[in-house]
Amino acid sequence: MKNTLIAPSVLSADFANLQRDIEMINNSEADWFHVDIMDGVFVPNISFGMPVLGAITRHAKKTIDVHLMIVNPDQYVKTFAQLGAANLTVHLEACTHLHRTLQAIKAEGMKAGVAINPHTNVSLLEDVIKDIDLVCIMSVNPGFGGQSFIENTYSKIKQLKAIIAKHDANTLIEIDGGVSDKNAVQLVEAGADVLVAGNYVFGSDNPTATIAELKKITAL
Ligand code: DX5
Ligand code: ZN
Repeated sequence: MKNTLIAPSVLSADFANLQRDIEMINNSEADWFHVDIMDGVFVPNISFGMPVLGAITRHAKKTIDVHLMIVNPDQYVKTFAQLGAANLTVHLEACTHLHRTLQAIKAEGMKAGVAINPHTNVSLLEDVIKDIDLVCIMSVNPGFGGQSFIENTYSKIKQLKAIIAKHDANTLIEIDGGVSDKNAVQLVEAGADVLVAGNYVFGSDNPTATIAELKKITAL
């Protein structure tokens, strides 16, 4: 049975009750905390920065999966390691020297992730696939929670899966944006290993039960 990892996105939490929402994730069947950092330059939105991430990691008891939607991520790699990030994901579109950035992330003891926008072809990752622990396929245009899922994602997952197999790599495939019970099973069938869910979890009446449901239906 496949153990699909579920990563609730803190972006959709109630920031006035952040500790409560962190405890909810701690006590749920969720596997990771997905934490979105936006700079208002790479994406047209600003989320939160280091002090809030530090507060999250002080209370969180699960893997901290940081998704950087920022330009020049290299200059903050060390800081994110110190703040407790276990996975650090940068955008391919924001990295001129991606190979160097991946090595810098790993040198700080973190797992190295690469996120790609909906318009970016997965084949651009082929030459560094062995160096990537996690590919985050954006299934919405990054910047906001609660957007509609882009259907072309399934075909990107299958193409990426083939590249990973061809190179005998251990890369995980994460899907971020518009994930719900409507597409979760099909995403896992296509090859997804990690599902990020923000609005679907936090917008539901019972987030703990919604996480449990996602966990259950994706155990194929
Ligand atoms: C979007 C973020 C996502 C977002 C997902 O830029 O990277 O992680 O929080 O939220 P939903 O699940 O609501 O699309
Ligand atoms: Zn994200």
